[in-house]
Amino acid sequence: MTQPSPEILAASSTGIARAAKLLTAGALVAFPTETVYGLGADARNGSAVANIFAAKNRPSFNPLIAHVADTQTARRYVEWTDTAERLASAFWPGPLTLVLPLKPGHGISDLVTTGLPTLALRVPAHPAAHALLQRFAGPVAAPSANPSGRISPTTAAHVIAGLDGRIAAVLDDGPCTVGLESTILGLDGPPTLLRPGGLPAEAIEAALGTPLAQRAANAALSAPGQLESHYAPGAPVRLNATTARSGEVLLGFGPMDCDLNLSEAGDLHDAAANLFGHLHRLDATGQPIAVAPIPDHGLGRAINDRLRRAAAPRG
Ligand code: TXA
Ligand code: MG
Repeated sequence: MTQPSPEILAASSTGIARAAKLLTAGALVAFPTETVYGLGADARNGSAVANIFAAKNRPSFNPLIAHVADTQTARRYVEWTDTAERLASAFWPGPLTLVLPLKPGHGISDLVTTGLPTLALRVPAHPAAHALLQRFAGPVAAPSANPSGRISPTTAAHVIAGLDGRIAAVLDDGPCTVGLESTILGLDGPPTLLRPGGLPAEAIEAALGTPLAQRAANAALSAPGQLESHYAPGAPVRLNATTARSGEVLLGFGPMDCDLNLSEAGDLHDAAANLFGHLHRLDATGQPIAVAPIPDHGLGRAINDRLRRAAAPRG
């Protein structure tokens, strides 16, 4: 399914209108969100969604997140709960995905949920994403816009480098500000953290007034996308390094001698925003990558989650 190089669309009203028209026609359109660039398709159109899996070479058992413009639209597709309402009013639009039981007559393609009885939903905060979702006026299934298993894209250039020839268009609105995928919370039982992400778990716990259940590390994957090896650069990655060994490039954090620094000031927001871009740049050197220790709280938990997967043995 090789296509010409993608149309690069500006986040203007003309660009948004063109992107919405392509989605309506069943084409694949990459678009910016505050977390990472997503690869969007009409979530009700089975063949469009099938093309997402093909373009990314994504395993067919790994379900997708449906993106909508607002909470009211989200409620059309799932059995809404008081907890969902509380979290949506606190954190939507924003980097939080809620997994809830599907409603009868939802109209979402089975390929989006991979046949699960639940749907992952998110209302992104990015103005261009919001404008696109409003204009399209439907649910947009969108995984991160990278080949499956590789580093997530935080610029339109990353998207094109990974998916050129496989997608119709990219809506380009500069780098993503959060830089880590959304936090995924299962609400089909007691609130359960399925993936740490751009909204720190501590903020969710504070809003709910209770600790979150964690998906047990070795439990059968209820978020099948939580594959061990992911976000992987071409070369090996070594964690908790304080100095580079011979041949390695060093990704630093805090004041230190290194090739690229996630945040010299030791700021976790800056580190999150820089993480994938720096990994893309170090990956381009072709050298093994050593990474400095990152504190394991707040956004640091999600950064460490991504780094562990980047360093995991390749399947
Ligand atoms: O920030 C984000 O979440 C980005 C932007 C584009 O919105 N999207 C993203 O999508 O990270 P993706 O496909 O790379 O990750 C989605 C994760 C996968 O790990 C998948 O297994 C999980 O969501 N997921 C989707 N539907 C699910 C469901 N019904 N139950 C449990 N996990 C689900
Ligand atoms: Mg992804």
